[in-house]
Amino acid sequence: MKKIAIFASGSGSNAENIASYFKENKEVEVALIVANNPEAYVIERARKLNIPCEVVTKAEFMAADGIVDMMHRYGIDFIVLAGFLLLVPKKLIEAYPARIVNIHPALLPKHGGKGMYGDRVHKAVVECGDTESGITIHLIDAEYDKGTTFFQAKCPVLPTDTPDDVAAKVHALEYEHFPHVIAEILQQLD
Ligand code: GAR
Repeated sequence: MKKIAIFASGSGSNAENIASYFKENKEVEVALIVANNPEAYVIERARKLNIPCEVVTKAEFMAADGIVDMMHRYGIDFIVLAGFLLLVPKKLIEAYPARIVNIHPALLPKHGGKGMYGDRVHKAVVECGDTESGITIHLIDAEYDKGTTFFQAKCPVLPTDTPDDVAAKVHALEYEHFPHVIAEILQQLD
């Protein structure tokens, strides 16, 4: 049995989708949800899903020792960032080498980096006149949006699309692909 922790900062619709995907799975358990914002709707989702949820401050997260201890306490094997907006501290990356993945709502290396998250990304896509966008699932490295890419999927962006239209297409790709890509990565772990 592999235990996953999902980190989220906001709504948590991806966290819920991943938890539902693995609900009946005998090999994989979503054992913990971590939120860094006490107002985040993901906390309510975790309660409804009956999954333990820990809320941490930015300072606690950046200090890292407490988070590494928390991961060990819950027996976590693998960490999924699903709409998590803080930079992952080096100590956590070192404690989970090649075992932290992130989803970015665009085709990296375009529209990545510090401050590029959620609607800001979709706005940039529209402002640049891009004809396609999509999702990137990648390993977490010490820098934002820079680790090895596992998977990308694309969607068309029409000249008439608003950032909200792009967000809807990208979310659909996230729901379709993120859970099975996590399952595939987990199968390759020893
Ligand atoms: C998702 O679209 C995810 O790709 C994005 O935040 C959204 C969270 O939605 N992540 C980033 O922008 C990270 N740079 P959700 O809370 O409903 O899952």
